[in-house]
Amino acid sequence: MYITGAPKIFKGKVLIGNGGTENGPNRGYITAYDVDTGEYAWRFWIVPGNPADGFEDAAMEMAAATWTGDWWRHGGGGNAWHGFTYDAELDQLYIGTGNGSPWNRKIRSPDGRDNLFLSSIVALDPDTGEYLWHYQTSPGDTWDYTSTMDIVLADLNIEGETVKALMHAPKNGFFYVINREDGQLISAENYTEVTWASEVDLETGRPIETPGARYELQPVDIAPTPIGGHSWHAMSYNPGTGLVYIPTIHWQNRFTDADIDLENFQAEGWRLGLGVGYEFGASTRDDGATGTLQAWVPVRREQVWEIPVEGAWDAGTLTTASNLVFQGKANGHLRAYNALTGEQLWDENLGLGISAPPITYSVNGKQYLAILVGWGGAMSALGGQEMADYGWAYGEQTRRLLAFSLDGTRVVPVSAPPRVPTPLATSDFIVDGATAESGELDYESICSFCHGGAAVAAGLAPDLRASGVILSVDAFEQVVRGGALASRGMPSFADFSDAELNALRHYIRQQAEVALAAGR
Ligand code: HEC
Repeated sequence: MYITGAPKIFKGKVLIGNGGTENGPNRGYITAYDVDTGEYAWRFWIVPGNPADGFEDAAMEMAAATWTGDWWRHGGGGNAWHGFTYDAELDQLYIGTGNGSPWNRKIRSPDGRDNLFLSSIVALDPDTGEYLWHYQTSPGDTWDYTSTMDIVLADLNIEGETVKALMHAPKNGFFYVINREDGQLISAENYTEVTWASEVDLETGRPIETPGARYELQPVDIAPTPIGGHSWHAMSYNPGTGLVYIPTIHWQNRFTDADIDLENFQAEGWRLGLGVGYEFGASTRDDGATGTLQAWVPVRREQVWEIPVEGAWDAGTLTTASNLVFQGKANGHLRAYNALTGEQLWDENLGLGISAPPITYSVNGKQYLAILVGWGGAMSALGGQEMADYGWAYGEQTRRLLAFSLDGTRVVPVSAPPRVPTPLATSDFIVDGATAESGELDYESICSFCHGGAAVAAGLAPDLRASGVILSVDAFEQVVRGGALASRGMPSFADFSDAELNALRHYIRQQAEVALAAGR
């Protein structure tokens, strides 16, 4: 388990969740602490534990009826790492919860069912953490469809009535408008290509799943992917235009569990353990992943404008009362658009891929726009060559906080130029194919998380194909097993045998040779 999300402060408390559904048996929870003293206030468990140990509260007892088999053996997941919103008006706290651990429901809950409170919005009493209501976006999730994306509150005028609404665009591709007084679904419309379900039935509030979508018959292509139709990059709502601005991803992937021993599967800590194989495929539009920025009108449930963006992994949006939308781009540009039409009005190259949304504030009547410039998130690890080609190689460009004002005169200081690392050529390391093959499993299930799939790093950690450390048995041992770079963020893997270390080196060098042969 790890913490990748920011804590949120509300009503005298600090709230923090966690992530880690992919890394071994994990049972998600969120905890509130006193803001002044740090003293524990309450904890809400997101999925039930082993009934033999007793339930923590009535919500867990209710949730347990929606699980089957020995789910607690697998943790269950639900880890909430981002979407927490406090509603001062109704004095409720809304939590967006995560996907199942492991991903494949056939392992987690072999006889099916909804698996509460996975992939849900759960409303809690902010003082006690007690359950109030929930709405589940992906019942019985089996595609990594977390619902941890932002939860935006607004008073919407729907068919002449003012509704205290909550808006949410989780990974699963549907845009939800929910009555936040009681959790009743008002509307759900797909904001990107969706193949796992045809629609959401407004009577029952449940999706109508496509037959075969749970890869129960054969490998199946599914959109959106585990990256989501929209991920954690902030969407923003402008009450003036009535529009929501969503950074959107158009992509699909193939799921299959044909090679998995479903009955005996058991995830281990810090080893990628999904219980299903997946492979990213073509975009739902062109080849590879594509991204767009779109303006969505929640009341009419339709798109108003949409513009293509260069990368699929663009940052969160900010919209202003002056009808602008700002968005940072994977290619390092910060842009402003007309909020009503999508027309581009301003563009500044900030010299490094952007992950964060901008903020705006005023000091002594002067308005500023500030943005943290830095490259990160899942695609900076697992994004492959497409993301590597931006040239945001690990540690090359400076991460920085930049602020802008209308009358600003300074020029953005120059940053190191993009650089795509070239795999190291050597003549004296002879790759052994069988040894490399045995190193692949460890590499892909452990190292790829930071150093990239197939050893193609996309910026989060060094590209190991270009590293001299791989060439030295001793240096490699000191870094990987000995923890020589632990203080710099490279974990130590103390339990690796000499044979495993050797196999990893052969696999990494093999990938370097494959790239060099392909002229990279
Ligand atoms: C949690 C993220 C993470 C994981 C998982 C991880 N690494 Fe690293 N690794 C890093 C970071 C960050 C650095 C760079 C540290 C620094 O700044 O010197 C690094 C550096 C290295 C280096 C030194 C590269 C150089 O040229 O300086 C080697 C070798 C390495 N890692 C191998 C591995 C192997 C093999 C695995 C899997 C067994 C692995 N790493 C898993 C984050 C990770």
